[in-house]
Amino acid sequence: MKLLVTGGLGFIGSNFIRQAIDDDSFSKIVNIDALRYGSDPRNLKDLRENRRYEFVKGDIADSGFVKKQLRGIDAVVNFAAESHVDRSIASPAPFVRSNIIGAYNVLEAVRRNGVSMFVQVSTDEVYGSAKAGESFDEESRLNPSNPYAATKASAEALAMSYYKTYGTKTIVTRCSNNFGPYQFPEKLIPKAIIRALKGMKIPIYGKGEQSRSWIYVLDHVEALKRVLLKGRPGEVYNIAAWNELTNLDLVDKVLSIMGKDRGLVENVEDRPGHDKRYSIDASKIRQELGWKPRHGFDVALRETVDWYLGNRSWWGRLATKSALHEAPWKL
Ligand SMILES: NC(=O)c1ccc[n+]([C@@H]2O[C@H](COP(=O)([O-])OP(=O)(O)OC[C@H]3O[C@@H](n4cnc5c(N)ncnc54)[C@H](O)[C@@H]3O)[C@@H](O)[C@H]2O)c1
Repeated sequence: MKLLVTGGLGFIGSNFIRQAIDDDSFSKIVNIDALRYGSDPRNLKDLRENRRYEFVKGDIADSGFVKKQLRGIDAVVNFAAESHVDRSIASPAPFVRSNIIGAYNVLEAVRRNGVSMFVQVSTDEVYGSAKAGESFDEESRLNPSNPYAATKASAEALAMSYYKTYGTKTIVTRCSNNFGPYQFPEKLIPKAIIRALKGMKIPIYGKGEQSRSWIYVLDHVEALKRVLLKGRPGEVYNIAAWNELTNLDLVDKVLSIMGKDRGLVENVEDRPGHDKRYSIDASKIRQELGWKPRHGFDVALRETVDWYLGNRSWWGRLATKSALHEAPWKL
């Protein structure tokens, strides 16, 4: 199968390609990425000489470019997106462009070229905030709270409409918060590690009581591969590993792994529209596709901290003042 991945130089996309490249299900993986701030060509530098891998720089919001790249492709996984909630609050327009127009262009090229499978990588944020004890399954109502989540919900709706209207084989996945190597320093875990290392205060929105369910990125990409190869077209699959923690408890864990003082935590003004809790039920993918996470949370978190400690040259260039800013929506 000749696979096209969009956004494959970002955090999750690069982890996906590194895992899929040795899988014989894929004869070739073409990666198209616009090289936005969240991406880094060094993420896949080990694949530069690999004949099964090809990188093409380009923007999925450019329909002509997308149409050309989709010729001869068997399947597509669409990771490409503006992905940072805070930035969507500061400026929603790039999110509408990449996440909605971009997804539309890819879907349209998938349909026109008779591509046999399209996977839209979406997020649990489309459900909005869950009440205590509540967990959303794939039938739950979508109720996005921020512009990022709203654009992701729109892309999903487009993907499903193509399945119903044109019979285009599309699948949507909704995953919880990812962590692991190659995550941009603006996200909570890398930011906490880097700021702690530099002896800087670690900003926590509000009282840090928001809770999120965390999944190691390698478990997410394994689930995506399974969805791509065995999932049923027209279906939505939640992906989660049930590691629910408040932001404060998460940062505490990071600090304790690093042997740093809890006093580094600093409460800052809360993000507008901040969802209190995300919680999804991922029984469907477990039961239908036999997927389950293979990495325990504590071990994976420790490995992630070790990765950042051992790869300072990777994040050194990316950890700019703006990426480490305490409230990026104010930039
Ligand atoms: N990070 C998470 O916790 C998480 C959870 C669930 C779902 N997701 C989804 O997974 C996908 C990947 O997320 P990530 O965390 O790896 O984000 P990321 O920001 O690290 O990577 C996104 C990639 O997309 C590229 N991109 C952006 N706009 C583009 C465009 N118009 N054309 C081509 N390339 C473009 C960027 O250059 C970057 O390489 C996103 O769709 C996101 O919504 C992320």
